[in-house]
Amino acid sequence: MEQVDLIWKNGEFVPWEQAQTHVLSHGLHYGTGVFEGIRCYETERGPAVFRHADHLARLEKSAELYYFELPYSAEEIRQATHELLVRNGLRSAYIRPLAYRGYGSLGLYAKDAPIDVIVAAFPWGAYLGEESKNGGIRAKVSSWRRISPGGSIPHAKASGSYLNSILAKTESHNAGYDEAILLDERGFVCEGSGENIFLVRDGEIVTPPHVASILDGINRKSVIQIARDLGYTVVERDVARAELYLAEEVFLTGTAAELVPVREIDDHPLGDGKPGEITAHVQAKFEDALYGRAEEYLEWLDFVEMPSGVDAASKVSS
Ligand SMILES: Cc1ncc(COP(=O)(O)O)c(C=O)c1O
Repeated sequence: MEQVDLIWKNGEFVPWEQAQTHVLSHGLHYGTGVFEGIRCYETERGPAVFRHADHLARLEKSAELYYFELPYSAEEIRQATHELLVRNGLRSAYIRPLAYRGYGSLGLYAKDAPIDVIVAAFPWGAYLGEESKNGGIRAKVSSWRRISPGGSIPHAKASGSYLNSILAKTESHNAGYDEAILLDERGFVCEGSGENIFLVRDGEIVTPPHVASILDGINRKSVIQIARDLGYTVVERDVARAELYLAEEVFLTGTAAELVPVREIDDHPLGDGKPGEITAHVQAKFEDALYGRAEEYLEWLDFVEMPSGVDAASKVSS
């Protein structure tokens, strides 16, 4: 992890090394945290946070689902994030807001454990590797099913839920694959360990629906809109496991990974084993949107006012 100077914690900017928490913090023991993964991109018009308001709205909803009262509004967190980027001299970054139950009680009915809020921002390249975006990745259907809505809340981006993703990711990595694809409790296709999934079948784009226990991905929403704007039919429906192998193309979307083609699943090559045409078409427009090159999606960008002369490299120490 590349360190930068400051992390915002509970309303203050603290030095990176001092942004610590008590070992008896509730969130550390039980995973009682909600968080976001957001990216800021350097565009021709300056640094811009992609769909910042949508991410913060999802943070608020995740908090609500776990009965957290966030001590800061979305707008306060947004302003703090802008200032954090400026003070760290970051013109592009991965941004991680987290609200977790802190120190005060270890009981499961945790109203006495305060909600601590942090925002960190730091350089982080494409999660599945820069080359994954062109060459595609190899994926494996996990033996672990995605958390079920009967026992937890797939819609919330909650810290504890990620134990499930970590099991799947670890299994796929240990078996020599780049990423895991999880099925839902019914056995239908759900998503990657940290990404939503799309298939191309007979020229149509298909993606699992909300009832398949997906996280309601912000990039999923963006890609659905972009693909429809490009003239493709996008269908949200249940997807059988075998359809993964029969698909002409498959790709994943997520903030950390961005849009990544899948070239092989469970050792079945997809199409001719190379990223497909429709994937490449949607990916190109999606990247235009991220980098502010698509006028029609400029409203998705939250521009950060950065004093001129701020140079990220000079501020970053690893
Ligand atoms: C489990 C899971 N599904 C899907 C996604 C994609 O969501 P988004 O596009 O909002 O980053 C993520 C990443 O946040 C994730 O962790």
